[in-house]
Amino acid sequence: MIEPIHIKDKYFEKYISESEIYSLLVEMASKIKSDYQSKDIVYLVVLKGAFIFASDIIREIGIESEVFFINASSYKSGLISSGNVELQIGPINVERRDILIIEDIVDSGRTMSALIKDLEKYKPNSVEIATFFSKPEERVADIRVKYIGIEIPSKFVIGYGLDYAEQGRYLKDIYVLTNHSI
Ligand code: IMP
Ligand code: MG
Repeated sequence: MIEPIHIKDKYFEKYISESEIYSLLVEMASKIKSDYQSKDIVYLVVLKGAFIFASDIIREIGIESEVFFINASSYKSGLISSGNVELQIGPINVERRDILIIEDIVDSGRTMSALIKDLEKYKPNSVEIATFFSKPEERVADIRVKYIGIEIPSKFVIGYGLDYAEQGRYLKDIYVLTNHSI
């Protein structure tokens, strides 16, 4: 049996392997590549969670592009989303360009909804979202997510950039929270 991962008072067990992640990523990247081939693509990577996914998918898409990073946080204490979205967008050069937001996971959709609203003032030509995970059952904000790696039920996951209380981002596979605590 594979040992569960133990972070603070929680246990996590393996959920999606590195190789499954890779095949989902390749499929997503090929769709994006054909859609953006003749566009002026600008990636907006949502830190921190999306940094690993972004580095993989941007290389897999493999087209000329510009990359900007923004900060978003809503999860304040581990598992529960605060509902309050904090965005930090530095100088971004996106006017009349085609923004592709790179996100790790769309949960309630509040972060993406706030970000898309904020981006209007930069006058982009288009804005779409590419997320590795989506939890459709949790959605409260009305947003359209064009590219999704995989839909998952309402479970808390870590690894591949995603954290529990800032830990577990380094894991190559995705792990899911188990029911037993310490
Ligand atoms: P939303 O605004 O509710 O859609 O929240 C999105 C953000 O919450 C994501 O960018 C993640 O940072 C975080 N988040 C949501 N679900 C999870 C999870 O299962 N594990 C780790 N972080 C998560
Ligand atoms: Mg995120």
